[in-house]
Amino acid sequence: MFGYGCVGQGLHDVLNSSKGFKADIVRICVKDRNKKRRIPMEYFTYDRDDILNDPSINLVVELIDDADAAFDIVTTAMKNGKNVVSANKVMIAKHMRELVDLQEKYHVSFLYEASAGASIPIIRNLEEYYDNELLYSLRGILNGTTNYILTLMHNQGIDYNVALNEAREKGFAESDPTLDVDGWDAKYKLCIITGHAYGLFLDPGEVFHYGISRISKFDIRYAREKGLKIKLVPYVGKTNENTITSFVLPRFISSDKYLYNVDNEYNGVITEAAFADKQFFSGKGAGGHATGSAVLSDISANSYGYKYEYKKLQQATVTSYTRDYRLEIYLRYNDEKDRELFNFEEITEYFSSRDYKYVVGIVNLKRLYEIREQLPGIDVFIVNTGRKGIN
Ligand code: HSE
Repeated sequence: MFGYGCVGQGLHDVLNSSKGFKADIVRICVKDRNKKRRIPMEYFTYDRDDILNDPSINLVVELIDDADAAFDIVTTAMKNGKNVVSANKVMIAKHMRELVDLQEKYHVSFLYEASAGASIPIIRNLEEYYDNELLYSLRGILNGTTNYILTLMHNQGIDYNVALNEAREKGFAESDPTLDVDGWDAKYKLCIITGHAYGLFLDPGEVFHYGISRISKFDIRYAREKGLKIKLVPYVGKTNENTITSFVLPRFISSDKYLYNVDNEYNGVITEAAFADKQFFSGKGAGGHATGSAVLSDISANSYGYKYEYKKLQQATVTSYTRDYRLEIYLRYNDEKDRELFNFEEITEYFSSRDYKYVVGIVNLKRLYEIREQLPGIDVFIVNTGRKGIN
């Protein structure tokens, strides 16, 4: 095993309490020699080759933070004929094609259920259950930290920064929490899921994402007054037979929707398909034990030779990606110039007072993507209204 942080320790606990399944952790490679560990020091090594070059080790579990180092470890392990389980969404999303090719080439298995939705077995479901389904769309909550923050803000009126600190203390947030709050983490997970849902390995850089770090009390109040909650919702869906679009945006959720009651660090995924129709998966999306449970499930699946087959990739029915997609958004803004950036095609609601201005209207995802680098620097907040019938 590589890494003994929140997930590593969670996995250790889960392994120790699982009666039916036996796996021995032979070695744990960590970086910090001075950190106090809660298990005997003879387990630990600081030299990655103690694991990667040990022919008696048949499975490497990679649970470190650093995506580049993780890529190096995972690819070396595969080249050395070892099966790999990983939870590293940044690394997987950025190198999915290459990792899939490597496992093919070296006849090893590479499993990563914990990388998206933590305890929710969404990847395996997409692989096995939806292998022949005509999947129209998939959306949900894939980041526990932002959901935790939004829940505290909405239900208890707690300040953004206080809520973020709590999420960090509870071990939900990334070591760099901007990955969570600015929507990167949800996007990486969405890209991984898209590979299994549609067989397209998206470059995360091509996918528009926007997070919650600019949210204000006005936005929460707007939602509350209308009986809505704001959740950070990644979306991927078909725009025609062989094309998909995807994005990550905060979204208004009404109380009759599945995601409305997905609170705290829980995640939820909704699939819409031609035959199965609508399905909803929910479970803890962050935290050592929840993530450890998914890692254990992969370790167990590996023990009976399970491999992802990437069935949608084989079928190759989805061949292109578009950002030409109309969306209705709520935009809170301060400066008219900032509003003009969005090139609204239609405006359906408008409000302006001294300290609070917003519009609701139709924009094109293409335009959001074009202005993506300007967005963090301007005083606006964007929410997808999620209203149908406009695309
Ligand atoms: N920081 C992540 C989250 C951890 O909050 O969802 C689980 O991937």
